[in-house]
Amino acid sequence: MKTFKDKVAVVTGAGSGMGRYLSVLLAKDGADVVACDVNQETLNETVEMLRKYNVSVSSHVLDVADKEAIEALPQKVIDQHGKVDLVFNNAGVSTGKHFKDMEEENWDWVMDINLHGVINSTRAFIPHMIDRPEAAIVNTSSIFGMVAVPGQTVYHATKFAVRGFTESLALEMAQTNENLQIHCVHPGHVGTNIVANSRMDEEDLQTDEERGSSIFTRNQPTTLEEMADSFREGGMHPSKAAQIILKGVKKNKRRIFIGLDSKLLELSQRIFPNKYHRLWPFFMIPMMIFRNKKPLKSLD
Ligand SMILES: NC(=O)c1ccc[n+]([C@@H]2O[C@H](COP(=O)([O-])OP(=O)(O)OC[C@H]3O[C@@H](n4cnc5c(N)ncnc54)[C@H](O)[C@@H]3O)[C@@H](O)[C@H]2O)c1
Repeated sequence: MKTFKDKVAVVTGAGSGMGRYLSVLLAKDGADVVACDVNQETLNETVEMLRKYNVSVSSHVLDVADKEAIEALPQKVIDQHGKVDLVFNNAGVSTGKHFKDMEEENWDWVMDINLHGVINSTRAFIPHMIDRPEAAIVNTSSIFGMVAVPGQTVYHATKFAVRGFTESLALEMAQTNENLQIHCVHPGHVGTNIVANSRMDEEDLQTDEERGSSIFTRNQPTTLEEMADSFREGGMHPSKAAQIILKGVKKNKRRIFIGLDSKLLELSQRIFPNKYHRLWPFFMIPMMIFRNKKPLKSLD
């Protein structure tokens, strides 16, 4: 895809993190933006940020787990913007507990948003996109769709599934509808609100290190707030991550890795498929040093 100018782009989870900056950079590149999020307040903040660009913007307070709302969205977008060219299925959540201790309600919460939300949105939008001259569906998985740590069973279940679903769909579209690009995004640590928005309790913190999911946070946070701050401050800036995603779409990369950490973790599972965790301590230093925590200069 050469340009986003005059395209119509739908972004889910647009109220925060990568979704917010995808919306901003798309608008900056001349795309109309349909910003969707379950959180009205943060969604409004994103819409406010989009005002300085000379593009048409609409917003929808929408829960991607609500199948009927997702099914109704494409027609609303077409009524307002005339077409759909790009869909970023970005909204996602996490929780942290060993599987045996996890409430079924929390399991379903993550599955419905991270997996069924992506699939239902893809199903709803494809019929409106296959005839567009240039179009793309961009599904966000994670590096945790490639490697696993303890304490993240449901997150892995969704992100490995998003990857499998998206890669198979990409092969199908390459055979039948080449104009519709399909991408899978694998971020490493990006400094967003995902931990702040997660369903965790203090109990989960005490055993976090033992579980291994602490590779992305400083050692031993004592409160959830400290953990959320540490995660936000330690990762790549989400504007930089959004820029990498959009470059990947322009270059038609099927797999889009974000950050050196993501690339090294993926490499580790190819070298040692059964014992890749043992390599991780050697990766920690380059992962920390090369993390780009500053926002994009062009956004200043
Ligand atoms: N931050 C990371 O390090 C990281 C790493 C790998 C993958 N990811 C993935 O990247 C994506 C974006 O996450 P982020 O890190 O920017 O997090 P974030 O929490 O900053 O943003 C996620 C947005 O999704 C919205 N959202 C949550 N549930 C929703 C629902 N049911 N319907 C609609 N919107 C909903 C939230 O309100 C929030 O605005 C997610 O899919 C996440 O799993 C993040």
